[in-house]
Amino acid sequence: CGIVAYIGPQDAVPILAEGLQRLEYRGYDSAGLAVVGRGGELKVRKAKGRVHECVDALPARFKGSPGIGHTRWATHGEPTDANAHPHVSGTVAVVHNGIIENAEELRAKLTADGVEFSSETDSEVLAHLIARSGAAELEEAVRQALTAIVGTYGIAVVDSARPDRVVVARNGSPVVLGIGDKEMYAASDVAALVGHTRQVVHLDDGELAVVHAGGFRTFTLDARATAKQPADIEIDAASYDHTGHEHFMAKEIHEQPEAVERALRGRLDPRFHTAHLGGLNLEPREARAIRRVKIIGCGSAYYSGQIGAQLIEELARIPADAEPASEFRYRNPVVEPDTLYVAVSQSGETYDTLAAVQELRRKGGRVLGLVNVVGSAIARECDGGIYLHAGPEISVASTKTFTSTCVAFALLALHLGRIRDLSPSDGRRIAAGLRALPGQIREILAREEHIASLAQELSRSPGAFFIGRVRGYPVAREGAQKLKEIAYLHAEAYPASELKHGPLALVGPDLPTVAVLPDDDLAGKNLATLGEIRARRGPVVAVAHTAPDPKITENVVLVPKNEPELDPILLGVPLQLLAYHAAIALGHDIDKPRNLAKSVTVE
Ligand code: G6P
Repeated sequence: CGIVAYIGPQDAVPILAEGLQRLEYRGYDSAGLAVVGRGGELKVRKAKGRVHECVDALPARFKGSPGIGHTRWATHGEPTDANAHPHVSGTVAVVHNGIIENAEELRAKLTADGVEFSSETDSEVLAHLIARSGAAELEEAVRQALTAIVGTYGIAVVDSARPDRVVVARNGSPVVLGIGDKEMYAASDVAALVGHTRQVVHLDDGELAVVHAGGFRTFTLDARATAKQPADIEIDAASYDHTGHEHFMAKEIHEQPEAVERALRGRLDPRFHTAHLGGLNLEPREARAIRRVKIIGCGSAYYSGQIGAQLIEELARIPADAEPASEFRYRNPVVEPDTLYVAVSQSGETYDTLAAVQELRRKGGRVLGLVNVVGSAIARECDGGIYLHAGPEISVASTKTFTSTCVAFALLALHLGRIRDLSPSDGRRIAAGLRALPGQIREILAREEHIASLAQELSRSPGAFFIGRVRGYPVAREGAQKLKEIAYLHAEAYPASELKHGPLALVGPDLPTVAVLPDDDLAGKNLATLGEIRARRGPVVAVAHTAPDPKITENVVLVPKNEPELDPILLGVPLQLLAYHAAIALGHDIDKPRNLAKSVTVE
């Protein structure tokens, strides 16, 4: 979900509307605004649907300042007008990201006191708690309300009875203040602030801020003042629009060569053929003592972790595996002192991943973060890590950050390998392979038209299998994930060898198989599997280093060869384009696929 707030001399509505549109990738089931009008009245509009639907329907007289806005990804309660934020109680309006765990209990208490609820959301209790506090100052009323709740939040509050301020607070869901000239902004993501200000202040968990047009004051949940240093936003507004491309996803796919260059910049050491990773906080002696690597993440982050685990096992010879963060945290994992834990998250906000990291740290585990968003909750929670430097990723379906994460894993594997048993010549070989990646990605992107024509055909199928072996298997999984996410086609990935143990029963002329086919020592086995598919007249699309026998398929995307360990990084790129063009052929909303959100900050 996304939050924006404004206080100052301008009309808040267009500022909130623009900010919400920028945040829409974080959730887009419903949207709403609340502003304090000239006459001191609270004006609220909210509706199911996209931000522009809500904003376009606003009457001309809907103006004012201060104001707050919200774009939602439904968790508690369906996406309906009533469940959309802001939630109102008397003169108070609240927008909330996160989850209030004791909402039912609080709702029962408030109901017993005669409060009438108008939505099914957990967030509405906050509005009532704040409105019913006897505190003279709004910030004190908010603080008291927050001490009564258990859960996570990023909130913004206005009160038409106290129109000279907005109160915001953060616990587990980001809030950032934007400093203007006699005006102030707040949002859940700097994306909403670029274009207005370059000076921002990130709130910490358990921190509140009272924001006036002329400045702000921060304090903790127990009312102790805190001191904050404003920071400069380093990202420019252009990163948040997709000029030159039809969609953010296309833009981000095409940005991959530069994203990889940034991930590598300054990190390859030509003298010792290793990787310099300044943020790891891991002494060589500690690196040598690692007995196991456990990688956690959700969605594409988890699949990139599977590729990472193989890189670490191959290059550093440390047993490594990846697991979905949510599974990991709920199975009461054994946390060992000689295991290195690695949390992967583009946003650095995914709640399941964050909670897993917190659980690990609580048990004394050492956790590294592979994160894109600098200063995000997961990045801060970890003992050290590697920033991806991929730039903002707006499309819900992750592409460039998937690739950058794999590159970061290769750097980590090289670093650990060279401290342990990877030879200098292998180190040199991997470093050269990494340097070649950007150019080779460009070669793949140049084949987009051909891939689009294959995607057209794929889009006419009811679904697809994706297969690969060992290094190719996580690539297949991520490829299937992309097709599900944006083309809404049923796609399942299997290790190629598993096909004959069950799924082959489904193969026939109507069910195509996308095969990840590197020229490695398993190529022969892969071709045998494709033979089994062809014998059942199943169509095949191959993403390969060399074209297979045309009797198997003529639908081939050729991918340049790198080092075998790094090949998965390149083999994934055509699969992104395949899903993208299949979704275009089907007329779907590419950047905002149904039911999904970019950052899932709830369990
Ligand atoms: C959401 C997104 C996925 C993403 C996952 C993890 O489910 O829709 O595309 O892979 O979260 O996100 P993270 O920011 O932790 O990498």
